[in-house]
Amino acid sequence: MNIHWFGRRLRQQIMVEPAKVPRHVAVIMDGNGRWARNRGLPRVKGHEAGAESVRAVVQACREAGVEYLTLYAFSVENWIRPRDEIRGLMTLLRLFLNKHEDELHKNKIRLRVVGRLGDLPTGIQKELKRVIKETSDYGNGTVTLALSYGGRSEIVDAVRILADKARKGELNPEDIDEEMISSHLYAPDIPDPDLMIRTSGEMRISNFLLWQISYAEIYVTDVLWPDFREEDFNNALKEFARRHRRFGNVE
Ligand code: IPE
Ligand code: IPE
Ligand code: MG
Repeated sequence: MNIHWFGRRLRQQIMVEPAKVPRHVAVIMDGNGRWARNRGLPRVKGHEAGAESVRAVVQACREAGVEYLTLYAFSVENWIRPRDEIRGLMTLLRLFLNKHEDELHKNKIRLRVVGRLGDLPTGIQKELKRVIKETSDYGNGTVTLALSYGGRSEIVDAVRILADKARKGELNPEDIDEEMISSHLYAPDIPDPDLMIRTSGEMRISNFLLWQISYAEIYVTDVLWPDFREEDFNNALKEFARRHRRFGNVE
């Protein structure tokens, strides 16, 4: 992302030194169901309202200079939810893509996905592939949707590829190291998240980016995802800027 372009705005708005802005933020967008229940609405209305938060956070990333944003939109475990809710979520995903495609082009933002895409309805797979292809050359930031995503399944999928290479004699098991595993995950070119945000107060990872978050800073807020806006995101960035990352070293 174009660091100097947003630098001035960043200092004015959130007063975080550009050097302390995370390069990659991953978000567990949780609390849509509770938001709807609090209003006596069906759960899918919470998911619908959450789409506006996605728009706000993408915008906040552009303004702050966050290059990579990864959003946990649907987990491999979420397939066990009631069929109506799943259908509602898939419809929303399609609507979301239609509605925000223009913005991706206008702002030169790349779309990516991670997860077992083959699990999704074929129409959505096609739409996703098309938008990913058409935005692939953009350089103003990358938004990655985690869909039918599980951290463990991602590792399983990588191990299968490596095992297959070993079986074919293309790979010596002794040569397997962390870098090789990283490079067989779903998005090997995307750096590990620096900051992981979870909304709606739950202190857990729920199978998100297990390998990649080894040294991510974790920020949990009680704000429910449909209420999460630019100010909430900037609060997370401010907190991140105050953290002292040691990566196993001494002070
Ligand atoms: C997160 O909100 C969105 C998805 C998991 C798809 P939830 O639907 O999990 O909302 P809560 O946790 O029930 O409030
Ligand atoms: C995590 O939220 C998955 C997504 C945000 C897509 P969940 O609501 O599914 O997680 P748990 O069930 O509270 O762990
Ligand atoms: Mg939840």
